[in-house]
Amino acid sequence: MKKPLKIGHRGAKGHIAENTLESIEKAMELNVDGIEVDVHKCASGELVVFHDFTLDRMTNGMGEVSKHTLSELKKIKVDGQYAIPTLEEVLNIIDRKCILNIELKGKDTALETCNVVTHFMNTKGWTAEDFIISSFQHHELETVFKINANLRLAILTKASVTDALEFANTINAYAIHPNVALVTRENVKRAQKEGYKVITWTVNDVQTIQRMKTYGVDAIISDNPDRL
Ligand code: G3P
Ligand code: CA
Repeated sequence: MKKPLKIGHRGAKGHIAENTLESIEKAMELNVDGIEVDVHKCASGELVVFHDFTLDRMTNGMGEVSKHTLSELKKIKVDGQYAIPTLEEVLNIIDRKCILNIELKGKDTALETCNVVTHFMNTKGWTAEDFIISSFQHHELETVFKINANLRLAILTKASVTDALEFANTINAYAIHPNVALVTRENVKRAQKEGYKVITWTVNDVQTIQRMKTYGVDAIISDNPDRL
């Protein structure tokens, strides 16, 4: 049986508050092959690593992430103790020790993501193979493709593998990222035959992890990468 790559979801969400530098460090301690994080553009233009569109669930702040400047966001605490990191801080801490899957979660995140990624490729030895850029938003992926066709793009879907594959062809995608509930042995084979990697999420229970392994997926995104 092929061994899928281990990808920590939002760092190691099952261990430490999601999308924090501490969670990312924990994932690396657990020997992941990659880490997935979400990005939004804040009001002062920088990319911050955060999942929700609003601050309310995870922090002591309130309101939309995109309406706050970076200096405002830096005063806010995630889960009572952690800071909201910028994408650059995440790249610095990962320092090419594993792959980084950047999910373009917020609106208008493609251009600034390309800027950050290009800066790290030009100045810090990162290569296109060190990144996967994924999104549910086709428009953001198309923008990345227009800026740099060499970056590895991935289509997130929780609705249809067939639709994801159709779109994948138009942006020369590297992978499709289907929700685990969509994955079958047949559609994994089909996607791989068409030339795409299959990276599924979010798989936390050992029985489902095992089933995904027997289907031959290329990577699994998990809150508990230690179970992979
Ligand atoms: O990238 C996989 C997964 O993170 C997508 O869903 O809501 O956890 O960002 P979500
Ligand atoms: Ca995500």
